[in-house]
Amino acid sequence: MPTMVFSMLNALSVEPGHHVLEIGTGTGWNAALLCHRLGDQNVVTVEVDASIASEARGRLFAADLAPEVVVGDGAIGYGKRSPYDRIIATASVGTIPSQWIGQAHPGAVIVTPWGPVYGGEAVSRLVVDETGVASGRFVGSSAFMRLRQHRKNLPPTDRFLDQAKWPLGAARSRTTLSPDDVGDWICMFAIGVQVPDLFCRVTWGEGGSYRLWLFDTGVTSWATADYAENRSDFEVAQSGPRKLWEELEGAYRWWHQQGRPDFDRFGLTTRGGPAYQVWLDAPDNPVPLREAG
Ligand SMILES: C[S@@+](CC[C@H](N)C(=O)[O-])C[C@H]1O[C@@H](n2cnc3c(N)ncnc32)[C@H](O)[C@@H]1O
Repeated sequence: MPTMVFSMLNALSVEPGHHVLEIGTGTGWNAALLCHRLGDQNVVTVEVDASIASEARGRLFAADLAPEVVVGDGAIGYGKRSPYDRIIATASVGTIPSQWIGQAHPGAVIVTPWGPVYGGEAVSRLVVDETGVASGRFVGSSAFMRLRQHRKNLPPTDRFLDQAKWPLGAARSRTTLSPDDVGDWICMFAIGVQVPDLFCRVTWGEGGSYRLWLFDTGVTSWATADYAENRSDFEVAQSGPRKLWEELEGAYRWWHQQGRPDFDRFGLTTRGGPAYQVWLDAPDNPVPLREAG
């Protein structure tokens, strides 16, 4: 998808002489573009799949380009050729690997697709400071494959209801918030950053109706909201110590009250690893967390 490749390269803002690490060689095309701009000696690209890496090497060679193509796990970066001025990942992550920050010069830029468990994803553009903090805004929506080690590994949903039939002993209620109004990519992102351990599934019914299922990764609670056309309110069932539909609804209403901000009003700050903060407009305005996940 050339528009995505070029918008991410634009966000990377490379300058002549920059030393760049790419994670996810794939076809080798992005690496070739970087080589064209910076010279082969300044480009290192890491691919986890040896056969993909070998094909990319062949293609690059045929184009008279010879960046270092490393077979390895890009989640740990590539320490041997560090530090880097720019790091670009072309597979998405759920947390920023601390190795990327450790292998970056102060002032370096990291561009990577980032997304919460619930859904929604955007390209994050982080600048690394001298203290090892990486911070910056998202620059646009994306939908990449996850870096192999960052795949979500969600618990199977039959662990929630076991063999019992819906609605088991769930508390029933109704809501005026349509499940259809919470499914946009940006809305899912806004929900996901506020409820980091939430995930969902949909089961389809007749005539366009469906059931939105909510679960937490800790396997403590579940909820459903039933969508049907031409309805003004919708049936909800919630089970377990957490009220997952209420958490989702609170997250949605916060996002709505903020003026339904798009990806580019959100930002991320992290030292790498599982601890991070997502913020709106400025780093001192963190998004609220609905439940300690
Ligand atoms: C969207 S493709 C990359 C596209 C590529 N930059 C290009 O120009 O064609 C994502 C690539 O990331 C690779 N990948 C997935 N997990 C990885 C990991 N942990 N380390 C390195 N590469 C990984 C996949 O094998 C795949 O080739």
